[in-house]
Parts: sequence; structure tokens; C-alpha cells
Amino acid sequence: MEVALRRMRADDIPQVIEIEKEAFSTGWVGTPFRRELNSRHTRFLVAYRTDVTDNAATSTEELPSGPADAPLWARMLTGVKSALGMGESAATDNLAGYVGIWLQGDQAHITEIAVREALRGRGIGELLIIGTLRVAYEQGLEEVTLEARVSNFVAQRLYDKYGFNEAGIRKNYYADNREDAVIMTTDPIHTGAYREKFQVLQERFLERYGEVQIEL
Ligand SMILES: CC(C)(COP(=O)(O)OP(=O)(O)OC[C@H]1O[C@@H](n2cnc3c(N)ncnc32)[C@H](O)[C@@H]1OP(=O)(O)O)[C@@H](O)C(=O)NCCC(=O)NCCS
Repeated sequence: MEVALRRMRADDIPQVIEIEKEAFSTGWVGTPFRRELNSRHTRFLVAYRTDVTDNAATSTEELPSGPADAPLWARMLTGVKSALGMGESAATDNLAGYVGIWLQGDQAHITEIAVREALRGRGIGELLIIGTLRVAYEQGLEEVTLEARVSNFVAQRLYDKYGFNEAGIRKNYYADNREDAVIMTTDPIHTGAYREKFQVLQERFLERYGEVQIEL
């Protein structure tokens, strides 16, 4: 399976809602994606399969790849083409996951992250976190933060891998069962130590899953 990352477009919304419903069936409250997509304070990224043919997938072939002698992690391409002209009219039926990021003060706050159940455990969640961190660097933000259900061991493992530390508890945070949320926040991402950690993680990701196109 080949996957790439780009900004969410309006025509992705039906697929994203499908993924959201599947992932957050308990107490599901639909995100107003259409409104959020137009906000300057949010960024939504989608991971999509490039081994399933559609216009969005083929359009990434036009992007240049990084120099052959660049470090592996640097060749995970960050294009600036964003959604403009990138198969705008294509109906996307190949989305694998998405992440919603709220750009708030000096923080990137992950509001939602989910991967299609059938495609979990193949690095897509990791790719969405890599994309989020890259957005945070691009925006000059200081740290990335989020809340997770205290029972959500899988998600916490993923965040822990990317250097998110437990920063506190929000009591009774989730309306459906009044479950507590654990707040998880990275160390300041501009420190040498964090940059190095992130670089190593991206290298490992590439070695494990192969090169991937990223457009922020
Ligand atoms: C959390 C979620 C996004 C992870 O996505 P994913 O694509 O399955 O995760 P990846 O394959 O990229 O795995 C990355 C890391 O997550 C952790 N992880 C993933 N699946 C795991 C599992 N079954 N058990 C333990 N840890 C797991 C591991 O640390 C893994 O790294 P590793 O492969 O080096 O061990 C996905 O499980 C999901 O959509 N869950 C439902 C929605 C949700 O809970 N969102 C989070 C809300 S806070």
C-alpha cells in the first residue's frame, strides 16, 4: 500500500466523515469540516492511498523529489502547492486517515486524528503526526499538544513515540462517559534535542514504509 499526505479539500469531507464516524462512534459529534476548512486557525491533512487510481493520486507525480544526496528524511517532500490546482474536482474515494490541527498561540493543537480501521497499524497515524509536526515547524510554533482518553492506550503509544509527554489531566472531559483526558504535549520542538529526535523518527519511518509525498 502506498500513501501520501496533503491538505484536506472540500470534496474529501464525505470520506472524512465516514472515517470520523467509524473512529469515534461513541458519542460521535460531527465536526463542521466545511466551516473549519475555511478558517485561518485550522489545518486539516489527509493521508490518501496512491495505489488506488484517482486524479489526486496521479497529480503528486508532478511534484519534484528531493535531491538524491539529501538525507532520507529531507526527501520526504514538503511541497507548497497545497490544494491549489491539485485535482480539485476529483472525487476522492481513497482516503486512509486525517488529522485536524488548531493553530492556537504558539501551539499546534491536534483536535482529531483517525485512520480507517482496516488500514491501522501500517504507519498512517505516524505519517499524520509527522505532517502535524511539519506544519508546526512551518508555522514557527513552539509545541504540539492534544488530549486523549486515558483508556486510549494505542493513541498514547503513538504520541509517546513522537515525544509527547503527559502534561496533566482534564477531569470528566468526554461528554459520553465522563472519561478523563490526558493532556500530552511535546517538548519545545525547536530545541536541538527535539529536532534530532524528529529527524531520526522520520528516517526510521522512511526505512520502514518507503518514501512518501507530503504537501502541507
Ligand atoms: C490512534 C491511531 C490514529 C493510530 O493510527 P495507526 O495508523 O494505526 O498507527 P501506526 O500504524 O502509525 O502506529 C504508530 C505507533 O502507534 C502505536 N500503535 C499503533 N497500533 C498499536 C497497537 N495496536 N498497540 C499498541 N501500540 C500501537 C505504536 O507506538 C506504533 O509505533 P510502532 O509501529 O513503532 O510500534 C488509530 O489507531 C485510530 O484511528 N484510532 C481511532 C481514533 C483514535 O483513537 N484517535 C486518537 C484520538 S486521541
